[in-house]
Amino acid sequence: MQTNDAEQSRMRGRSGLIGKCLFPVAGYGTRFLPATKAQPKEMLPVLTKPLIQYGVEEALDAGMNTIAFVTGRNKRAIEDHFDITYELEDQISGTHKERYLQSIRSLIDQCTFTYVRQTQMKGLGDAVLTGEPLIGNQPFGVILADDLCYHDGDGILAQMADIYARYRCSVVAIEEVPADEVSKYGVIDGQLMPDGNIRISNMVEKPSPEEAPSNLAVIGRYILTPDIFRILRTTPAGKGGEVQLTDALMQQAKEGRVIGYRFKGRRFDCGSIEGFVEATNFFFSSMGSERS
Ligand code: G1P
Repeated sequence: MQTNDAEQSRMRGRSGLIGKCLFPVAGYGTRFLPATKAQPKEMLPVLTKPLIQYGVEEALDAGMNTIAFVTGRNKRAIEDHFDITYELEDQISGTHKERYLQSIRSLIDQCTFTYVRQTQMKGLGDAVLTGEPLIGNQPFGVILADDLCYHDGDGILAQMADIYARYRCSVVAIEEVPADEVSKYGVIDGQLMPDGNIRISNMVEKPSPEEAPSNLAVIGRYILTPDIFRILRTTPAGKGGEVQLTDALMQQAKEGRVIGYRFKGRRFDCGSIEGFVEATNFFFSSMGSERS
């Protein structure tokens, strides 16, 4: 990856504060069966890049070059994707096809990839807690790769790293959603601050439209302070019988330690077929003649 000096110093500045990003990737992806029967949903491609690669690029753009995957069974393809494929690379070495591997090679060169397995699907909160040995006692990013984010400029997580630098507490990315969709998300409420961010005072996981405190939904981008692990250890199972990250964040929010950030850019819900098709069309129309 070619970066100019300003960009490099920006990335150094950010990575000084937050160097690690956690990717919970243990889920089954049942909505995409049969495509996800024998391959991870995170490997489904939008054009030629798997979803997970978009996420890792966004983390690196935010200065986070240690990538921590919380994986599960049937996720080997993710490990292989972030590794060298000698035979293939040897075959296309010196041909024009080499450039197709440029983006992934650049990530492999710049990042360290670490892995831990979640043995039972006990919810996003449990997945994050499972990642603790890879993170340690430092603030960290979290990307849910199903939410594919795009901004022509700083990525969403990079924008959030700047918010973290200002407030030094957890940050969640939020977006307005139609009232009839609140039940798909963690939904927040709080106090609007002069800079447009929200100091969150209430968070509810997947509420009905009647229970929802607002129509501001949390999307799959977080910056978390490491005390979240201590909180998660005693967070009981919540919605759906699973340990919810939203419930643990609510404990921090009670102390005014969670900021809601309305991000610049677009988010595609690639956990749904409609969102996936929308993302594909969007990236195809903005691709121009790059690949010809
Ligand atoms: C998770 C979180 C939810 C959040 C959503 C964003 O839900 O539990 O709070 O709003 O991600 O995509 P999931 O989509 O994994 O069910």
